[in-house]
Order: sequence, then structure tokens, then C-alpha cells
Amino acid sequence: MNARFSLPCWALAGLVTVPAAAQVMNPMAIPPALAQDTFDLVVDEHIVNFYPGVSTNTYGASASYLGPTLVLQQGDTARIRVHNQLAQLTSMHWHGMRVPGWADGGPPREVLPGETWFVEFPVNNPAATFWYHPHPDGLTAEQAHMGVAGAIVVRDSAEAALELPRTYGVDDLPVVVQDRRFAPNGNFVLGPYGDSVLVNGTPHAYVECPAQVVRLRLLNGSNARVYRFGFEDGRTFHVIAGDGGLLSAPVPTDRLPLSNGERAEVLVDLTGMEGDSLLLMSFGSELPLTVPGANNPIWESSALNGMDFPVLRIRVTAPTADPVTAIPASLVAVDPPDEADAIRTRTKELAGMGMVGMGMFTINGLMFDPDVVNDTMLLGTTEVWEIVNNSNMAHPMHLHGGSFFVLDRNGAPPDPWEEGPKDVVLVDAGATVRIIMRFDDLTDGWPFMYHCHNLMHEDNMMMLQYIVVDPNTGLAVVEDPRALLFPVPTAGAVHYICPFAPEALRITDAAGRTVHAEGPLPDRGALHLSLPPGPYTAVFSTDRQRATARLLVQ
Ligand code: C2O
Ligand code: CU
Ligand code: CU
Repeated sequence: MNARFSLPCWALAGLVTVPAAAQVMNPMAIPPALAQDTFDLVVDEHIVNFYPGVSTNTYGASASYLGPTLVLQQGDTARIRVHNQLAQLTSMHWHGMRVPGWADGGPPREVLPGETWFVEFPVNNPAATFWYHPHPDGLTAEQAHMGVAGAIVVRDSAEAALELPRTYGVDDLPVVVQDRRFAPNGNFVLGPYGDSVLVNGTPHAYVECPAQVVRLRLLNGSNARVYRFGFEDGRTFHVIAGDGGLLSAPVPTDRLPLSNGERAEVLVDLTGMEGDSLLLMSFGSELPLTVPGANNPIWESSALNGMDFPVLRIRVTAPTADPVTAIPASLVAVDPPDEADAIRTRTKELAGMGMVGMGMFTINGLMFDPDVVNDTMLLGTTEVWEIVNNSNMAHPMHLHGGSFFVLDRNGAPPDPWEEGPKDVVLVDAGATVRIIMRFDDLTDGWPFMYHCHNLMHEDNMMMLQYIVVDPNTGLAVVEDPRALLFPVPTAGAVHYICPFAPEALRITDAAGRTVHAEGPLPDRGALHLSLPPGPYTAVFSTDRQRATARLLVQ
């Protein structure tokens, strides 16, 4: 069926064939920014009128579509309760966050209908924009598509010291871009492409911005579409951050490609523009034919494919009392691992055929099998991964477990805005991309995924998993992840919960050295420790059982 002729007229109103002036524009939704000790995300079903008089079934996270922006401070502990009120299982993944395996929320960490998952993790990442979304095996695309996703803003002292816009909702805005296709009955049609562009869940969105430097936190939350952002007037803007952190200096550009799951923070200078407006576009006509979003006739079609289309209109209002008016000359020290420190290179070959329905793809000839761990990394070591795309379609490749750096693409340096910490990299058909990553968190029995972030491919099993073992203790997999230690200041009690009464407790430091041992102990209680700041691993054991917990002493 050709989408152009099967859609109700309201779904076509945003297409470039309609003059922009004729469109009814809606104010862009701005999710609330929450900074709390403990966050609650209630995942449940809703009905939303994206268009007047049209009801669309959605899922949301404590909202009718998408969810709040979680604001975290580096060095703090994030505590989140995920309440699953859907009729199907879910999971919740903190995309890009460097968390231990048990907290990562990948497919093994299922939250059953009616269940609550309480997760607590140290905020290790530097200031950047991350996001959360469900990750259940085979249901990720469906649940994210229905609307379960939200932004995470991490703040840190290095970012706070810079002259950057950071008043949320005023000069610092989340811009979550998704394309959706609506069925005649108003419901979403799950598929690779949509022909309506939603920004933070708003179709035909406009936002009012003050006439000064503003910061847009762009996130491609689409299933398959890659965007090529730029402004209608071709103006230069500055990229200040990629997926996982600020760049060393703002990168001027007039175009910014963003593949699925990728984020970028950009500064746009609206100084002197009060009363004017500016259109953020995606220049789909400039995408290579191998990139989803181009008009490749052998793939699923969409009215937006290969088109230059509007994403967000910025209406410029009066400047604020204390505006940022300049683009900083430099940002933060970016410190990628040294290639000479890599203990090995792994090659990951992508293969398969893209076609209508998005095709089937493999990584090293393999597809996701929850019972197979595909790679084992040694804790604290650095590796180079060489991703070779021998398929006929570009794939946004993503690793859990932290950030990586892009070494090169086809032997050449990556685009300058890709030179910071990243967790998704687009690997075009025929391309080879080399990345370097340090593995700093044990998986504790909950493997980390690596996969294509085209959600249609991910759910089609273009995903494998790895574990991280401690080379000093040999600890890789533990029997029960329910053990918990509650971080408190070093002087005082640390509370623990263990799923059994341990005969022994052993606490090791980051280097794997034992710093504390005692036992036997009851299955919950208090420990009296005096440890210097840093991360520790506690292993509770009996002769038949073992459970580890992480402790961060601050
Ligand atoms: Cu957003 Cu496994 O990914
Ligand atoms: Cu992820
Ligand atoms: Cu893919």
C-alpha cells in the first residue's frame, strides 16, 4: 500500500508539499525535568490526541507519551523504580550510562506485568544527554514506538563551569525526534518509517526561544530513520556534545547527521532575531541511498524518504535577563583511550540484505540468542573493535556498558563532532569503522548487549551480548543479583540485603584486592566499614551460592 494515498489528510499536513505557512503549528511539548532522590517511572497505556479528534493508543513513562527528563549529577547515586503496568513484560535501559550489568536494564532484566524494578546505580558518566527506553527481547521497537522513552541529562562540574545555556525549557531544550505513521483509525502503524514527524511527541511543532544562544539536545528516537539536521537558511550552528560527553571545542557545521539512538547537543545563535523564526529541517535528499531515510526503491517506502522536511520551527522571542551570547572557544578535555593500550582487536562483520520490512542482518554470522554469551572482556582492559559492514544498508551500531571513541571510518578520522565519547556509530554499507573502548564494569551475571539501534533490526535479532570478568578474581557470572549494599558515608553503617544467609562476605576494591572479609552473617543487616572513596565489589557466598553487589564509597 502506498502511504501517500492511504493516509487521512491530517497525517499529510506536515509534508513539504504543503506550504509551511498553511500548517497549524503546535507548541512543542517539553517534558518536565525531574531532579529527585528516587524517580518513579510508571509504564502504562494511554490515549493521546496527536491530531484534533483523532485518538491514538500509546504507552508512556509517567506520562501519556514519552516520559520526564531525569536530571542526574555525576558522582550521585541514581535510584529509579520502574513500575510495569502494561499487559506485557518490559525492561528499562539507561542508554549510554556506564552502569554495572545488573542495573543496565537489557533484555535479561525483565520487569513482569504488575512488577516494580528498583534500580540504583552510581552516575559515572560526564555531563551529556542520555536516554531511557524499554529493551525487552523482541518488544523493544513496539514499546519504544508506542512512546516509552525519555531523556536523561547528566550534569557535572566541568560543564557547570562553562558559559553554556542550561535553563531547562528556556534556552536548553530536549528535542526528541521521532517519525510515526498513523493508521486510518488513528493508531500508530509499527514499521521502519513514519510520515509524521513528532518532536517530544508534538506534530508540526514550534518552540519559542529567546534571541540569544540556545542549546538543543537532539535525540533520534526513531525506529529506522536517520536524520540529517540543518537549518532552512543554511546557517552555521555549533555541536558541543555527542552521545556521551562534551567535545573539546564547539564544532561549527551546517549539517549534522544523527542515526537512531544518537544524541548531539548543538548551540544555535539567535541573537538579534527577535520576532523572526527559523526552521530546523532534515535534509533527507542528501542521505546516501544506503542510509534508512533515503529514497531507496528496494526498501520500504515512505513519503518522507529522500525528502527535505521540516522538523521544528523556532519562533524567536525577547532575550532573557541573563543571556548567553557567545559560543565558548573551548569545552572540556577529551581523553580517549590510547590505541597502544588496547589488548586486542575484535572484528565484527555485519552481513545481510535490506529489503521491504527491513531485512535480516547478522553480526559475524550470528543472531541474538539469550543463552549464548558471544564475547568475554577483561575488566579494566581496552579493546579496539573493527566493525565491517558487508551488508547493503547502513547500521547504527551501539554498545552497552559505557562510552567508546571512534578511531576512524574507512581509515580517515571521524567527523569532528564524533570525536567525543559515543555509544552509537553509524556504519554505512561497505564501510569499516574502528572504535576503542575500555571495559570498566563487571556484568555480574547480566550481560551487556551490542546491537544495531535500528529498532527493526534489533528486534530482528541483530544483537549479541558480552560479559566482563575480573581478571584478578575470575568472577564473571554470579548466581543471584538481588544482593544490595546501600551506599552511605564511609564512617557509619552500610546496609546490605542478600538473598541467602552468607557464610562469607568478601569486599574487593577496583583492583580486585580484598579489603574486608567477615562471616557468617544473617541475610540482611549492617556492616561497619571504613574504606577510602571508590568502587567496591562485595561477594556474599555460601558453599553453594554466590551473589555480588556493588558499593560506591563517596
Ligand atoms: Cu538504546 Cu541496547 O539500546
Ligand atoms: Cu543502550
Ligand atoms: Cu541495522
